[in-house]
Amino acid sequence: MPAPLPVPDAPGSWPGLGHVPQLALRPLSFLSSLNDLGDLVRIRLGRKPVYVATHPDLIRSMLVTDGHAFTRGEGHAKALSFIGPILVATTGEPHRRQRRMMQPCFHRRRIDSYITGMTAAALDTADSWSADDVVDVLPAMTELATAAITKSLFFSKLGEEAEVELRKVGSAILQVARMSAVAPGIYRRLPTAGNRALPPARALIERTIADYRAEGQDHGDMLSMLLRTTDADGVGLTDEEIRDEIMGLAITGIGGPAAVASWAFHELGQNPEMERRLHEEIDTVLDGRTPGHQDIARLTYTQQIVKEALRKYPGWVGMRHTREAVRLGGYELPAGSEILYSSYALHNDARWYPEPDRFDPDRWASKNSEGKLRKGAWAPFAAGVYKCIGDGFTEVEVAVVLAVIGSRWRLRPVPGRTVRAVHQATHVVPGRLRMIAEPRSVHREGHSSRRAPELSR
Ligand code: HEM
Repeated sequence: MPAPLPVPDAPGSWPGLGHVPQLALRPLSFLSSLNDLGDLVRIRLGRKPVYVATHPDLIRSMLVTDGHAFTRGEGHAKALSFIGPILVATTGEPHRRQRRMMQPCFHRRRIDSYITGMTAAALDTADSWSADDVVDVLPAMTELATAAITKSLFFSKLGEEAEVELRKVGSAILQVARMSAVAPGIYRRLPTAGNRALPPARALIERTIADYRAEGQDHGDMLSMLLRTTDADGVGLTDEEIRDEIMGLAITGIGGPAAVASWAFHELGQNPEMERRLHEEIDTVLDGRTPGHQDIARLTYTQQIVKEALRKYPGWVGMRHTREAVRLGGYELPAGSEILYSSYALHNDARWYPEPDRFDPDRWASKNSEGKLRKGAWAPFAAGVYKCIGDGFTEVEVAVVLAVIGSRWRLRPVPGRTVRAVHQATHVVPGRLRMIAEPRSVHREGHSSRRAPELSR
């Protein structure tokens, strides 16, 4: 075997702090700058060395082909440990068991049945705007995404109270997760809104689980599925496990779709031709109806926009940890090493995506466009055993949001405002994105009434 390659050190390490200032203040440009230094680069967090994989081959090897030699980094586990040992926080055998049990909630047919709730959530948002309102887009999309996941969790009237409560306290609990990633011990002891909201939210979910069990009906929602799912030995989830997984989904299921939908509206606002094509597709396919699952497949340009938003604005950081000494590409990593990768830096690297700054949904126009990419260069949802379980849910949700809102409103940029990409938890979000709501006259003339979908409750 050839001698291991030397790992270059990133410049600009501060005495005692390493690259913490760069990661805290400008992580997106800092991590992107490492692409030019090598396929694997060493940075320092304080005195601790951390490796950054910048090349798709290495990222794929770490996540998929040599995935057995790596485990999840500590970030997620730390951030969500206050909920319990949920899917996103576990590793190894417990993770495998939980993954198998959660998977049915995210089967394609199940996702189709969540479209009604996603549509209702998008209609509520669309109906809350008036002409010329200046919309604070990210909070609006966060509220919408919270409603979409909570409606998917509970279809039955029995879940109505839990849904309302989770929507009310969702952002406060999300804040607990964000702060717990930074300072878990201290933050959990503070009397913040999120910490105060947790016990009553938990109690309400427990009551809902008991009500669903007593009633015994399959409502087709996530909770019904979680009550029925079993592991390889036929053992189901306990009520406590279900409660914690529900809390976990209500947290992990919000930030990503909200960021992607916000970016899509921002980009549409910058590009009238793209917006025209979107509107033409929505008007042709839906003809004033709200979308059903057969429509999603036909909204091809809409889906391309979603995909391009996931390309240009994926999460900025993911972590893995070596279980054993391992060769990654030509590099040697000792056991216990931390390896970081940035989907944002990867997706904005001109070697894999020509003209990466250009938001171009036509990159995804051919059916095989993903197949033509360098393997490993597409990683908005990570890959391998810990890959995001909500990938299909996200793609459908954001397409529904664009279709429902786009058939009623155009969001115009506020003149003179610059929108910057900033990091929020692991996501990249548009900072201070405000847009002006303008009613779409085509829709108003042709289809003035709101045809709300019927939820099963
Ligand atoms: C734009 C949207 C989203 C992005 C970019 C995203 C990103 C990710 C990434 C990168 C991971 C892997 C974390 C790791 O490597 O440890 C992950 C895991 C996960 N995500 Fe997402 N996510 C999104 C939406 C969602 C949604 C909508 C849900 C739930 C409805 C969800 C639930 C989860 C869960 C439960 C895991 C843990 C999976 C496992 O460990 O088996 N995510 N997500």
